[in-house]
Amino acid sequence: MNRLLPQFRPSRLRATSFALALSFTSALHAGKPTINDGAVRIGSNENPFGFSPKALEKMKAALDAGNYYNHNDIGDMVAACAVKEGVKESYILPTPGSGPVLMMTAWAYAKPGVNVVTSAMGYTQLTRAFVEHGGDVKFAPLNAKMGYDFKALGAAIDVKTVIVYICNPNNPTGVLADPAELKKFVMSVPENILVFVDEAYLELADSGLAVNTAAPLVKLRKNLIVSRTFSKGYAMAGLRAGYGIANPEVLEKLKLFYAGGPSYLAAIAASESLKDTAHLDENRAKYKEVRDYVCKEFDKMGIKYASPQGAFIYFRSGMKDKELVAKLKSKNILISGSRESGVPEGAYGDWARVSIGTKEEIDLFLGEMNKILGKT
Ligand SMILES: Cc1ncc(COP(=O)(O)O)c(C=O)c1O
Repeated sequence: MNRLLPQFRPSRLRATSFALALSFTSALHAGKPTINDGAVRIGSNENPFGFSPKALEKMKAALDAGNYYNHNDIGDMVAACAVKEGVKESYILPTPGSGPVLMMTAWAYAKPGVNVVTSAMGYTQLTRAFVEHGGDVKFAPLNAKMGYDFKALGAAIDVKTVIVYICNPNNPTGVLADPAELKKFVMSVPENILVFVDEAYLELADSGLAVNTAAPLVKLRKNLIVSRTFSKGYAMAGLRAGYGIANPEVLEKLKLFYAGGPSYLAAIAASESLKDTAHLDENRAKYKEVRDYVCKEFDKMGIKYASPQGAFIYFRSGMKDKELVAKLKSKNILISGSRESGVPEGAYGDWARVSIGTKEEIDLFLGEMNKILGKT
C-alpha cells in the first residue's frame, strides 16, 4: 500500500400500485442521468433511488478543493471501510468502483495453462479479462433453483485452477447463497487457490450484508478477496468508489496493476454513505418493495423467474431475449438480454434480466410486457 499509495494515512399499469409506491415515505434523493434521452433505464443495475443526501452535502462543500489531490479523503475512506469490515487498514484496497478489483485480479493471475472456476451464469468482468490474458474459464452448473451448487463448483477445480470466482447474490440470476454453505465452501478450497467473492449487490439482500458476507474470512484464509462497491446499494455508480478486502500479501499482487483510487469527492461520499445507515436501510426496503411487486406481477402473468435478492430479476419471457430487448427498446425501455448478462451462448435464450427501477418505471415495463406477450 505504502509503495503505491504514499499519500495514504494508513403507472400506467395499476393506479393502486402506484399509490402504494407513494405511500412509502421517502427521504431518498434521486438525481437524473446526465443523458437526457428519457429512457427507462432498467438494464444496467443502476440504483434509481439515489445516494445519501448527507453525502451530497459533503461533496458540495468540498467541490472547490478540486485543485488539490486531497489523498487524505481516500485515507479517511480506507479507515472507515476497515472499521466497517473489522480489519486493519492494510486489508483494504480502495478503487474507483469494484470493477478494478476484478480486473486487477484477472491481470495478476491469468496466464496460459491456468484456469478460473466459476458458475455457468455469472458476471463476466473478471472471467473475460482472465481469458483475454491467456487463461481459461471452467464453468460449473448451477443447481435447479439457479443458485450455487458448491459440490459442482468444488468438483470443477483441477490442478490448473488458480481462482474460484463467486458472485453473491449472483448476477444475472439474483440468487443468494446459503451463508453457512458459502463459508464452508470458501474454507474448503485448497489453500493455494484464490477464492474471489464479489458482493456487489449484497447490501440489497433482504437479510442484509452482515449475515451473508464472506469478508470476516479474510482473517482466517489468506487466499481470499472480497470485493465491495458503492455503485449499487449506496447508489453511487457514476461517482466510482469501491474496494477489495484481502490479506495485504494478496493485495500486493494486485497493486502491480493499480491505477489509482477513487476521486476525493467519491471518497468523501463513500465515507459519508457508510455513516448514513438509515439511508441504506431505506434503499434496501425500496428494493424489496419493488422486487416483491415485480414477482407478484410476473406470477399473475405466468412468467417464471429466479429468486431475486439483488438489483435485478432474471426471468423467462418465452420470447427470444434479443427480440424482447429490441421491442422494449423501441419503446425507450432498456433491459438486458441473457447474453449481455453473462449467460453462455445457446443457453437461456428466452430469459432476460430487468433491473429494479422505481415503481413508475416498472409499471411502464410491465405494461409493455403485457402488450408484447399478448396478455392485455
Ligand atoms: C456483480 C458485479 N460486480 C461488479 C460490478 C462492477 O461495478 P462497479 O465497478 O460499479 O463497482 C458489477 C457491475 O454491474 C456487477 O454486476
